[in-house]
Amino acid sequence: MLKALRGTKDILPDEVGLWIHIENSARDIFSIYGYNEIRTPLIEEAELFKRSIGEYSDIVQKEMYLFEDRAGRLVALRPEGTAPIVRAYLENCGRYSQRLQKFFYIGPMFRGERPQKGRQRQFHQIGVELIGSSLPFRDAEIIQLATVFLKRLGIKEEDFSVRLNSLGCEKDKLLLIKKCQEDIRPVLKSLCETCISRYDKNVLRIFDCKMEGCIDAIKDIKIKNTLCDECKGHFDAVKRYLNEWGVKFQLDEKIVRGLDYYTRTVFEITHKALGSQDAICAGGRYDNLIKDMGGKDTPAIGFALGVERLILSMKIDSTKRPYKKLDVSIVTTGKALQDEAFRFLNFLRDKSRFSCDVHFEEDSLKAQMRQAERSGARLVVIFGEEEFKNKKLIIKNMDTGFQEEVDYNYEALLKKLERDIPR
Ligand code: HAM
Repeated sequence: MLKALRGTKDILPDEVGLWIHIENSARDIFSIYGYNEIRTPLIEEAELFKRSIGEYSDIVQKEMYLFEDRAGRLVALRPEGTAPIVRAYLENCGRYSQRLQKFFYIGPMFRGERPQKGRQRQFHQIGVELIGSSLPFRDAEIIQLATVFLKRLGIKEEDFSVRLNSLGCEKDKLLLIKKCQEDIRPVLKSLCETCISRYDKNVLRIFDCKMEGCIDAIKDIKIKNTLCDECKGHFDAVKRYLNEWGVKFQLDEKIVRGLDYYTRTVFEITHKALGSQDAICAGGRYDNLIKDMGGKDTPAIGFALGVERLILSMKIDSTKRPYKKLDVSIVTTGKALQDEAFRFLNFLRDKSRFSCDVHFEEDSLKAQMRQAERSGARLVVIFGEEEFKNKKLIIKNMDTGFQEEVDYNYEALLKKLERDIPR
């Protein structure tokens, strides 16, 4: 039998309700903060990600799903949302006169990583991108928004932590990279092969390595950011706003992020119950990206939350959530009454809010009743041949088992169902 590809998962009907709840909560809160939804294609030119995330990032080096299309163009399944949004912004910016643009997005991303708990090859992100402001209060606002969203989903404040750092401007970041290379050089031999290959091109990524040997080798290395006065002032202001607004955070100089485009503020939100893949949200400033991609010098900042990890941290076993049950099941004692039952079903579907269905795939009343029970119906309407001779039906309440005979009158029946089935 064919199975879903490794690292991909079906979202089954009993789980979809939770996904819709999360997506709608995102739409609600993001629109309160002034964001508009954007939907970009799942495929982009591979070059887009190479130029933005960085040629030597893990994503571009070994995780992107790449293929050549019929015209010989190298195409990638999008591994993240920021680069496509910047591309869409640049391509369409003539349409928007406002200086500040706030976008949010919800959708699947693709990375060929080794699957494990909280890490998939097709996963989903909910993210925001704020383009056109370098003001530090925007950094604080975006971090606040992420925490408000998590709390709205019922994730407890004491279970997650915001880890905050500043990489400084491009110059500061180069100094930081140089300093890290100096500090790591003495322990280079004890690092894993991947980290050794990261040393020259993407040294900061070594601090993200989850291999025990690497964690141990670099544990005493203190990353000491040297921010220029301007970046220091910016970062101080971000912290001040967060403190003033009651958003808790921890400074963590090991938050360096693996994508090339970050400068200044970077942050991750981790959840304590998630094990090694504990980042439920990550983001930061990318003040040079838009310019580097051919646009005007335009500062920007954003974040993305991983939906699968959100669900894990909501501690809801989503597979145990009952999917939508039927309100009303309709059964008959014989085929002769099926047409009559269809008429009543059409009436209910037209005039009521109830989910309702028949179970005529089964012949016997007993088998139909079993299906009605499995569908979770609260009330079963029984078209019985004997009762129907007197224009009566039987209604069975599946919670209490109570059964009663009622008149076959559409309006009266509708009123009764409305009384008996709680909203
Ligand atoms: P990222 O750190 O690569 O950042 O991903 C953001 C979040 O997506 C992670 O914190 C995690 O929750 C989730 N995630 C990433 N990879 C996987 C995976 N393989 N399986 C499950 N979940 C995963 C970005 O993507 C940036 N574009 C975020 C950003 C937006 N920065 C600025 N604006």
